[in-house]
Amino acid sequence: MSAKMKIGIIGCGNISKAYLSNGPSFNDIEIVACADINMDAAKAKAEEFKIKVMTVDELLKSPEIELVVNLTIPAAHAEINLRALNAGKHVHCEKPLAITLADGKKIIDLAKKKKLRVGCAPDTFLGAGLQTSRKIIDDGWIGKPLAGTAFMMGRGPEAWHPNPFFFYQTGAGPMFDLGPYYMTALVHLLGPVKTVSACTQASFPVRIAGCKEHFGAKIKVEVPTHCSGTLEFWNGAMITVVMSWECWKHAHSPIEIYGSEGSMMVPDPNGFGGPVKVYRPGNENWSETVLTHKYAKNSRIIGAADIAAAVKKGRPHRASGELAYHVLEIMHAFELSSKSRKHYVLKSKCDQPAPLPTDLMEGMLD
Ligand SMILES: NC(=O)c1ccc[n+]([C@@H]2O[C@H](COP(=O)([O-])OP(=O)(O)OC[C@H]3O[C@@H](n4cnc5c(N)ncnc54)[C@H](O)[C@@H]3O)[C@@H](O)[C@H]2O)c1
Repeated sequence: MSAKMKIGIIGCGNISKAYLSNGPSFNDIEIVACADINMDAAKAKAEEFKIKVMTVDELLKSPEIELVVNLTIPAAHAEINLRALNAGKHVHCEKPLAITLADGKKIIDLAKKKKLRVGCAPDTFLGAGLQTSRKIIDDGWIGKPLAGTAFMMGRGPEAWHPNPFFFYQTGAGPMFDLGPYYMTALVHLLGPVKTVSACTQASFPVRIAGCKEHFGAKIKVEVPTHCSGTLEFWNGAMITVVMSWECWKHAHSPIEIYGSEGSMMVPDPNGFGGPVKVYRPGNENWSETVLTHKYAKNSRIIGAADIAAAVKKGRPHRASGELAYHVLEIMHAFELSSKSRKHYVLKSKCDQPAPLPTDLMEGMLD
């Protein structure tokens, strides 16, 4: 590997700007090229960020590129991940790793066979908010985690999003679109999940687009839009989860963990910062803690930077394919449990990712 791992981005849509802007902040990576099936989108990003523009085929064939960052739409994730691995490159993918479990497994197996790294978003758990939350648990401030809640609820994106259709198709819905942030954060905090028991529903079979581009268009709902369940973790904790686009307003915090010695409010896992709040008996109320770690600002791409640092050091990377595959199985488990009216016992298990040190220099990962 060169001093900085050379990255090629495939997929130059909305989220690519964050990756391209944040890339230069990390010492071990350099974004050198981008590609998209829409060449105009790729050209625009290449010009703005002064990198090379390539077709997808050229990028995959380029000997310079060691790591592909896959920012395509979920339906194309598996195909691009597999093509990158087959081209001999490491790959870091936006969430989810794939849509089906079978495709997810193919990706993990191929990477193992080729001795290449697979990483996957979200990497927000490497941010200051979720690293501080992890430290509070690991250092025993709330005792043994016993239970908790994870709530992501809203009315859905069709009122404002310029292209709302895919949100209600297979591979999306509240669970697959936003669930990865919550499930990844929970596995980071508590370790792997043993069983899921859940009920799911779609109360509105048709939704109506509100954006000017598609005003009044009917959107067929193919996925559950309210998923409610309980995760039982291998460490014994039980977490109540609701991922819903059937709720106008609520007053729950994103994640709360209840331990034998206290409680903790965890910040929004779709972000990098705080606040982290802790309650211990004897205090009148919650106290906001200082953030113990770096990366409180948007640092999307940090997961790919961690791959580069991990390859250099010969250690596992944190936002790993195994973690993402476990999260994918948890998300599928909600509907499988609901349909079968039974607890779903997970087949996969992953290591809890190593916490980051508190004394990192800006731009570094260890
Ligand atoms: N937009 C956000 O705020 C956001 C936030 C977090 C994560 N994400 C995730 O990032 C990914 C991309 O989201 P986005 O909002 O940038 O989507 P987008 O639709 O704006 O961009 C996706 C881009 O991928 C390209 N593309 C699609 N299929 C391709 C293929 N087979 N080969 C090459 N290029 C292909 C499209 O032409 C498009 O330019 C999704 O997985 C999404 O879940 C998005």
